Amino acid sequence: MTDQPTGSRLMPETRTAVAPLLVARDADLSFGATRALTGASVEIGPGEIVALLGPSGSGKSTLLHCLAGILRPDAGEIVYRGQRVDDRSDEQRSALRRSDFGFVFQFGSLVSELSALENVALPLRLSGQRRRPAEATAREWLDRFDVGDLAGKRPGEMSGGQGQRVAVARALVTGPRVVFADEPTGALDSYSGERVMDLLSGVARAQGASIVLVTHEARVAAYADREVSLRDGAVVPEVVRA
Ligand SMILES: Nc1ncnc2c1ncn2[C@@H]1O[C@H](COP(=O)(O)OP(=O)(O)O)[C@@H](O)[C@H]1O
Ligand SMILES: [Mg+2]
Repeated sequence: MTDQPTGSRLMPETRTAVAPLLVARDADLSFGATRALTGASVEIGPGEIVALLGPSGSGKSTLLHCLAGILRPDAGEIVYRGQRVDDRSDEQRSALRRSDFGFVFQFGSLVSELSALENVALPLRLSGQRRRPAEATAREWLDRFDVGDLAGKRPGEMSGGQGQRVAVARALVTGPRVVFADEPTGALDSYSGERVMDLLSGVARAQGASIVLVTHEARVAAYADREVSLRDGAVVPEVVRA
């Protein structure tokens, strides 16, 4: 973001300069006695790539899952396009995920029983498209990501980098407004990881999608417009990238 408020390079909160697309406000979430989030707040702008950083166990994945409507915070709010979504039913939140969001995880993003082509076509099929047009679109994405020759292969027959390229294609095929990527390169060597990030960030930029990116790696965080650090379930102030 080039139009951040000036004056201080330290952001007291994690604001965006334009109206945010997606907001977590004072989110608390416990798993039994474990407090995973304690008053976590973050804003994601339209088309913005935000990296969530922090030590293992600091609440990054939990915050991502709350923003994505997978988990509901015990307290606080999740607001998407100006409307509260954390109080909606499971069915409503899964409908929102299907229509507006895409997902890439470190492992197991793909359905192991389905071919690459069927995996990429799946989100289109789930939103009601017929098989032929869905698979035709899926094939275009596989070609575009240089994995067209893997169309008939199952995830177990691909390298990690190939599998993640297929997973990124699947996350983007519906034209989501937000892509949630939890350590998408965590299992890859640096070359494959950068190829995956080039594809993910390139297409997201072209489509105007936002990305919520969890990563440990500075090389991967460098793809983000902004970094947000978590410690013990809360967001800590972060220096804005110049
Ligand atoms: N499903 C769960 N059940 C119990 N504890 C969990 C669960 N998910 C996360 N936690 C705990 O919540 C805290 C935050 O976890 P997480 O959000 O996964 O952290 P990070 O992604 O930063 O490594 C950790 O202490 C973790 O052990
Ligand atoms: Mg995690």
